[in-house]
Amino acid sequence: MAERKFDRKLHIRTVGLREWGSQTSMYNRYEATPYTALEKFHNIYRFKENDQLVDFGCGRGRVTFYIHNRFNIPVTGIEANDKTFEEALKNKQMYRKKRQHLTAPISLQYGLAEQYEVHKNDNCFYFFNPFSVKIFKKVVMNILKSVQQHERIVELILYYPLPEFKEFLNRHTPFQMINKVKVHSDHGKYGKFVVYRTDRAEKA
Ligand SMILES: C[S@@+](CC[C@H](N)C(=O)[O-])C[C@H]1O[C@@H](n2cnc3c(N)ncnc32)[C@H](O)[C@@H]1O
Repeated sequence: MAERKFDRKLHIRTVGLREWGSQTSMYNRYEATPYTALEKFHNIYRFKENDQLVDFGCGRGRVTFYIHNRFNIPVTGIEANDKTFEEALKNKQMYRKKRQHLTAPISLQYGLAEQYEVHKNDNCFYFFNPFSVKIFKKVVMNILKSVQQHERIVELILYYPLPEFKEFLNRHTPFQMINKVKVHSDHGKYGKFVVYRTDRAEKA
């Protein structure tokens, strides 16, 4: 299976699902972005050396480690599920053993995305359908507040973009869609990436 083979290349284990059960309906289950989708997208979308990524709902860390390995930029993964977070930490240990030459930092943080304090150098934010649009709105508002305090260009990357997320960004924020990349995966019409950018510190 291609997914497991790619995991072995990165020395991590990210295949599988984890449901939240009846605990909450606002937080979505763990499922990793398909490697084939990441490969296709990042052949088109490249990070620059000054970029700094936050993966909101990083799960076991597939995207976090994939991007670190490919672009050697600082990455932060935020995960709210304690078991999944433990798995991400184990993955970091294994990954780091084999990737000591990559100097960019990797930070994994246990907690809620909506409570993450956006750093002034964070400028790319990744979402693979981690939570409800209500929480997404809070997270985006936190990003915009940070942009007002520290003016900079920021981008949001959404995999599996649901209509309500796009509608919110289009109608209620200064973000504009700048790129859309369809990728072949099991996710049907949602198997695509959309990239939004705001280049001014506008009022949210
Ligand atoms: C669909 S998975 C995506 C995993 C990873 N970003 C990837 O693409 O491979 C969504 C993850 O978000 C986590 N999550 C859900 N709600 C969250 C919240 N409020 N704060 C942080 N993580 C959350 C889930 O536990 C799950 O691991």
